[in-house]
Order: sequence, then C-alpha cells, then structure tokens
Amino acid sequence: MNSFAAAEERSRQLSQTILESPRDYRVLTGERPTGLLHLGHFFGSIVERIRLQRAGVEAFLVLADYQVITDRDSMPRVREYVYSAVLDYLAAGMDPDRTTIFTHSSVPALNQLMLPFLSLVTEAELHRNPTVKSELAASGRALSGLLLTYPVHQAADILFCKGNLVPVGKDNLPHVEMTRVIARRFNERYGRVFPEPEALITSTPEVPGLDGRKMSKSYGNAISLGMSADETAQVIRRTPTDSERRISFDPASRPGVSALLSTASLCLGQAPEEVAESIGDAGSGALKKRTTEAVNGFLAGHRERRAELAKDPGFIAKILQQGNDRANQVAEQTLNEVRTAMGTRYE
Ligand code: TRP
Repeated sequence: MNSFAAAEERSRQLSQTILESPRDYRVLTGERPTGLLHLGHFFGSIVERIRLQRAGVEAFLVLADYQVITDRDSMPRVREYVYSAVLDYLAAGMDPDRTTIFTHSSVPALNQLMLPFLSLVTEAELHRNPTVKSELAASGRALSGLLLTYPVHQAADILFCKGNLVPVGKDNLPHVEMTRVIARRFNERYGRVFPEPEALITSTPEVPGLDGRKMSKSYGNAISLGMSADETAQVIRRTPTDSERRISFDPASRPGVSALLSTASLCLGQAPEEVAESIGDAGSGALKKRTTEAVNGFLAGHRERRAELAKDPGFIAKILQQGNDRANQVAEQTLNEVRTAMGTRYE
C-alpha cells in the first residue's frame, strides 16, 4: 500500500474513533486568508469542520495571516479577508465557544516555537516538500526563507495547542508528516512534550471553478459565499460553455458545462448526471439558470445570517479578541513546557 492509500485508510478508521470518543481529540485547522471564502471552501473544509464540531471535538482555527506574506498580492487586503472569513465561519454555524478562531500574528508564543523547530529539520528536507515546490513555481519569484520554512511554521500552528487531529486536503499531507517528524524529534531530544498529530483527509469533493479548473479567486472562476444573488448570476452567466443543446456531464471535453453541473449538483445534493438529464436538450442558457437558482437557493440562509452579523463589525473584532486571548494562554503554557524541557527557564 502506498503512503497516500495508507493515510486514507487511517482517516476512515479515525472518523469512526472520533465519533466514539470525541474528547480524546483536539483539532487544529487553518486557512490562509488570501481572498474571500468561496463555495470550494464551503464544501471542501467548512462542512467538515462543522461536522467535527457537532461530534463534540474541541477545535482551534488559525487564520494564517503570516502565511499571506508569501503571497504579496493579498497582503494589502489581509484584514478585510480575515474579517470576512470570520463572518463566513459564524454564518456557517461555527460556535466560537467551542472553536477558538485566532490570527497567527496575534500569538507571539506560537511563533516563538518556530526557533527550536527549525533546528530539527534539514535544509534538504525543506527543499523536498512538494507544496513548497509548487508554490515556488507559481510565485515566479526567488524562493524566500519564509516560503521555504512555512511547513515548519505550520508545525508550530498545530503543536502550540497540542492538536492531535488535522483535517486537510491531500496536498497538505506532507506538512502533517513534517509536523509529526518535528514532534518526534523534539520529544526524543528533550523529553515528551508533543503529540504526533494525525491527518484526517477531508473526503468532501473538490468543487471545480466555473471554467473547470480548481476554484480559486485568482482564476476569477469562484463563487464567493458573500456574493449577492445578482453577482452570482453574473459570474455564472460569464462561464464559457458550448453551443451543443444537449447537456451532458463530460469534464474532459465540456469543462464549462460540466463545472456548472458539478456546482448545481453539490448545491442540490444530486448527481451531476441527474442534473444534466433534467435539463435535457434545453441548452446552456437553461443550465446557467438552473445553476444560478441552485446556488442562490443553497446560500440564501448563509447570506442572510452573514449580512446580519456584518451589521456590527465590533462583534467580529470581539470574537477575534476572545480567540486570540485564548490562543495566547494556550501558547504560553506550551512554550513554558518547551522551555522547561530545553532547560531555558530562568525565572
Ligand atoms: N497551509 C494551509 C493552506 O495553505 C493553511 C494552514 C496554515 C494550515 N496553518 C495550518 C492548515 C495548520 C492546517 C493546519 O491551506
């Protein structure tokens, strides 16, 4: 069995044990606030987080603002993206009393863990990380020290609260593996402080963007959760389709048509082929209309709650303040344990 199949198998077992003993787990999840959250985030990670919350698992959610620095284009709007993400989480049903929502840059003790952690990995290991490689290629710039070491920073995100369960998409698996290596090496060298966290591979399907590529704000193919019904209709109208009247699900040769079908399918809870069947040979116009109705219907409640919460920006600031206070308490406690283990406590 290859390591990915093994990780998937382990995730299936984990899903079961989590339901049986939710109190044995502490979840750490994270989001890089590089844009507005969209349907891809909703089906890809938010649904899973709410599910874990309902199961009774305690969670920490980092809005990884220090990771946005490597994506220079987003940095000027990072505050807006952070506030907007909190609105979406709350509107989706995340309970700030059970999930600690916090921002990287507000928790000094978390960031300080990076120093001993950096000593536990080699430069060669960092260069081998596939996500670092693809981010580097996508950036078109020279590799910065921060980008090279960001998996170590992510280890600090996970270990500062002794998170032992990390729900991630496939592409984040190498980071969880590196976190396990760092925890193991730290414990071997200084005595046991950290758990070796496990990845929980998110089984929810990836939502394609409207052009068939991965949904991403930077491709301009995303439906963000906070869009109005009219804006949603507009982006869907702009989706490139074809002139064949008969609607069929065929991602390879009809990317636009199929992406619309996938989107409608997720929002309606029906297979894409079924949606195609129901439209028959009514053409792309009908498909776009159906998709718009499906998305707007699905998001109506979310958008209403979001708009209500957005009326009071002070409220979001308060939620973040509360989350950051709690994250600081937990991080300081862990840093003290680390300093004791390393013999660097002088008071
Ligand atoms: N690196 C993750 C991403 O780009 C975001 C993230 C930051 C994260 N810290 C984390 C994910 C800790 C899981 C755990 O999507």
